[in-house]
Amino acid sequence: MNVTVLTLFPEMLQAITGYGITRRAVETGLLTVNAVNPRDYTTDRHRTVDDRPFGGGPGMLMKVEPLLAALKAAREQLGVPARVVYLTPQGRKLDQPAVDRLATEPAMILIAGRYEGIDERVVATEVDEQWSIGDYVLSGGELPAMVMIDAMARRIPGVLGHQDSAEQDSFSGTLANLLDCPHYTRPEEVNGLRVPEVLLSGHHEAIRRWRLKQALGRTWQRRPDLLEARQHSPGLNSEEQD
Ligand code: ADE
Repeated sequence: MNVTVLTLFPEMLQAITGYGITRRAVETGLLTVNAVNPRDYTTDRHRTVDDRPFGGGPGMLMKVEPLLAALKAAREQLGVPARVVYLTPQGRKLDQPAVDRLATEPAMILIAGRYEGIDERVVATEVDEQWSIGDYVLSGGELPAMVMIDAMARRIPGVLGHQDSAEQDSFSGTLANLLDCPHYTRPEEVNGLRVPEVLLSGHHEAIRRWRLKQALGRTWQRRPDLLEARQHSPGLNSEEQD
């Protein structure tokens, strides 16, 4: 998957290209992450990237011309049709099904807004999808763009070392719409608390069932809304019923 991020702060992308699983995805060529900076497409002496909103009021918007020029450059660099995604608190709330679908796109342009955002006519004419990462306001779209890229990268075949770990993640696979079970590592006692005995038993089927029960219990206590969603997903309930 090839992702180009339109951003005034391209260095921020090192948070994903420089570390961990997403870094390896880039190194192995399963993922490319490039930045196009609207500032590089300004034409004035001051390289202006912001502009005042019509109607007045506090706050600035991203300047339209550099943004459109950057978008054009991004499309040309990718060389194939790319979905254009704008990260904004006004978008639909990102969830695992959306991530799974977006992860199948061969190419994508993510617009990371700054200031109060971008001109509505750019949204209307250039943007295919708008996504929010949650009901809170951040200072820019870079972190949301990286959240989206990280989540998508994990769904690209070959990105996770042990392919099963994607399936084990909360929100996907057999445990679809369930929170993860608790995990324990050495030593067997930490701050006076022992590892649940079943995990030391070597009884794989018992361990599997314990983990499923924990996941269900946790989800029921912390996120009952996810169990509601599960009720409406035929085929995911067989295990709990036996
Ligand atoms: N930009 C600022 N806040 C955001 C959010 N919560 N989600 C997506 N983009 C944003």
